[in-house]
Amino acid sequence: MTTRQAIETAPVSGQVAPVNGRRRHVLDLDDFTAEEITAVLDDAAAMREVLDRDVKKVPTLRGKVVVTLFYEASTRTRISFEEAGKILSADVINMTATASSVEKGESLLNTGLTLQAMGVDAIVVRHPHSGAPHFLARSLDNVAVINAGDGAHAHPTQGLLDLYTARDHLGDLAGRRVVIVGDVLHSRVARSAVWGFAKLGANVVLCGPRTLLPDPFTSAGWGSGSSSNGMHNPLANVTVQPDLDAAIEGADLVMALRLQLERQKVGFFPSMREYIRRWQVNDARMARANSNALLMHPGPMNEGIEVSTALAHGERSLIEEQVTNGVAIRMALLYQLVGSGPGGD
Ligand code: CP
Repeated sequence: MTTRQAIETAPVSGQVAPVNGRRRHVLDLDDFTAEEITAVLDDAAAMREVLDRDVKKVPTLRGKVVVTLFYEASTRTRISFEEAGKILSADVINMTATASSVEKGESLLNTGLTLQAMGVDAIVVRHPHSGAPHFLARSLDNVAVINAGDGAHAHPTQGLLDLYTARDHLGDLAGRRVVIVGDVLHSRVARSAVWGFAKLGANVVLCGPRTLLPDPFTSAGWGSGSSSNGMHNPLANVTVQPDLDAAIEGADLVMALRLQLERQKVGFFPSMREYIRRWQVNDARMARANSNALLMHPGPMNEGIEVSTALAHGERSLIEEQVTNGVAIRMALLYQLVGSGPGGD
């Protein structure tokens, strides 16, 4: 059975839902309340203070074991989780698909069960298949699962660090205009960011070539103001504007997405030159935004394509701050899931 088939046919044995009010896993931001997001950001602010100390070490997770299980490449996410765990005194073990028994054909399920049998407390997983972290969470009874990026689906810890960075500079995000521009179609970063910013009340504008905006964003189901159960729809404030010059008018924050060059061979837009001309975020474009508008990018960047070099390394850029804040967010999440965080011991 392939991993894809296993994900789709998995029996539900483990509990994904919170137990005694305590979150067991972090799979996406769609099931976070605004209050829960705010609690993570507040804990991250406390962790950020630890990062500024000369001796970056606290005993919070002493005796806990965290495994990073990466089936795809990563610099920021994997290393920041490792750093976060080590600062909190957890034992952190890094595992990649290469050089492990995954190369001999061991399934995701059996890999997870093997790690559970070793008594690990948390698995941080990145996988090319959407739903893989959910599958692990449903299949394991005693391990917290954190999604470090699954297919084109979600990247919730990136979303949280983006929210932290934005809130740190803009304060309350309610009513702020946040433009997410680029390859939205293939971006798990965009999906989690949309949920997060929308839940905190921001007005999110999705921008890019029409071919790189996924159908649900352009269908009538988005922005209707209420969901099928009559509850307020947090996505009501999400709009689509393919014209970047129009989208960026009055923006408080612009998030440029990585153009996933490996996926562009099928011709989503006429040429790279055309893409740069119409959708590159640069100083001239930022002049249309609010005077103190800020730039974010999740990394890794294609400098000179989706964002100009001058802007990426200029005064408006929060890109390196995002990376630093990523360590604090991941410390806060590990603390909440396997330490004595909210609702914990
Ligand atoms: N933003 C992000 O996920 O970067 P990495 O792929 O380097 O982890």
